[in-house]
Amino acid sequence: MNLPEFGQKLRELRTSRGLSQAALARQLPVSADLISIWERAYQHRGRTWRPDRAAVVRLIEIFADSLDMTDVQRWTAQAGYRLGQTELQKIFPTLTVPSDLSSRTPETTARSTLLAMLPDTHLFGIGRERQQLRLVLEQASAPWLVAIDGIGGIGKSSLAAALVRELASTDRFHRIAWTSAKQEEFFSRSGLEALQRPALDAVTLTDSLLEQLGEPLLLTRSPAEKQAGLFALLKKLPYLVVIDNLETVIDYQTLLPALRQWANPTKFLLTSRHTLHAYDDIYCFSLKELSQSDALALLSYEAEIRGATALASATPAQLASIYEVVGGNPLALKLVVGQTRVLPLTQVLDNLREARSKKIEDLYTYIYWQAWHALDEAGRQTLLVMPLAQGGTLTHIAALTDLHGTDLTQALEELVTLSLLEVSADLEQPRYRIHRLTETFLLNEVAKWQAPP
Ligand SMILES: Nc1ncnc2c1ncn2[C@@H]1O[C@H](COP(=O)(O)OP(=O)(O)OP(=O)(O)O)[C@@H](O)[C@H]1O
Ligand SMILES: [Mg+2]
Repeated sequence: MNLPEFGQKLRELRTSRGLSQAALARQLPVSADLISIWERAYQHRGRTWRPDRAAVVRLIEIFADSLDMTDVQRWTAQAGYRLGQTELQKIFPTLTVPSDLSSRTPETTARSTLLAMLPDTHLFGIGRERQQLRLVLEQASAPWLVAIDGIGGIGKSSLAAALVRELASTDRFHRIAWTSAKQEEFFSRSGLEALQRPALDAVTLTDSLLEQLGEPLLLTRSPAEKQAGLFALLKKLPYLVVIDNLETVIDYQTLLPALRQWANPTKFLLTSRHTLHAYDDIYCFSLKELSQSDALALLSYEAEIRGATALASATPAQLASIYEVVGGNPLALKLVVGQTRVLPLTQVLDNLREARSKKIEDLYTYIYWQAWHALDEAGRQTLLVMPLAQGGTLTHIAALTDLHGTDLTQALEELVTLSLLEVSADLEQPRYRIHRLTETFLLNEVAKWQAPP
């Protein structure tokens, strides 16, 4: 990895096209400050800002005309990534992929597809937690079922994704599969169909795993044959199966006996808002809030990448007062940073003081209402359709709104700036999703408020 050289190349490519940082930022979309940070390989507390994988893929698509395959490989390596065969062929359809890449096995291709779909955000203050869980997952003995629990937005899915990233680069597991018990899936190829997916139970989990673990032929068999096939597969070699949001499975207790049977040598990593401490054989790890110093580091980082200049120059006392109200909940902190883009910092702080005594759920509702009021009509319209377009592309979202062209991209950019919308990696194009808590707010609060009396 060589981030200064990556940044230099980015600046060269951008200026050769006559693009301003803001113009390039709009195409990704990210904030213009982030382009500047990447170009300068900006450092903070000894850590250098690194674009996530989705951003690198997007940059390559934007500058594809000015790059050849060697440039692409060198540039992505400078950012610490390596593109898969499918990705390269997408960008350079007429080129033959070099033999070291075309000889990739189905396992390596599946792995890079999985990693491209998972969020890859910079995480603060969870080094020890990550280490501890990694050891538990690496050991080839019980516990076979490992759970991360904690309140919404605390970082369970992010921690699980970080573990998957680490373990995918080792040969500990034959393959890794990720299923989200919630319909908004990282793997939904078409966001709009995602809502029609059935809720997770042993039958749908079987199908999803057979598909991800490279046994799609078994999918055409009877349910009993599929179950037997999956059982044989998971018992033969060690796989890692992640089930995200287990608590959203209606009656998840009935799924646990199936997981117990499938486990060993395969391991299951579960995330859940409910604790599973009652189950003796499940190793439970409760994710706690970030410490004050980690929360402040997250605030500074987010302020920097979202271009929240007022917050970036806030005094330590002002930052500490945000922590006093919001605590160390990463999602809440990110949302507050977003608000400082549109409201004066003092007002955000005053508003937060009013919420000081509230429970975390109420605090979220409060923060979301603030954000909602800061949005213009296009932003609100776009946000409201997101529950129907989870994981959707620009085209999906455009089909659900009256907005097109720059109106839509500006609305998306505004939502990203406010941390209301997350852009996730995809092999082909950016996909957008809202956090589950944002979705809950839209469906429970805004929809109620908008309904006719
Ligand atoms: N340690 C961390 N450092 C920085 N950002 C974090 C950290 N943990 C989580 N985040 C960010 O906070 C947000 C919420 O995290 P995540 O989605 O993992 O929460 P969760 O616990 O899975 O929530 P839910 O219960 O709703 O599924 C994400 O945008 C994520 O990038
Ligand atoms: Mg989650």
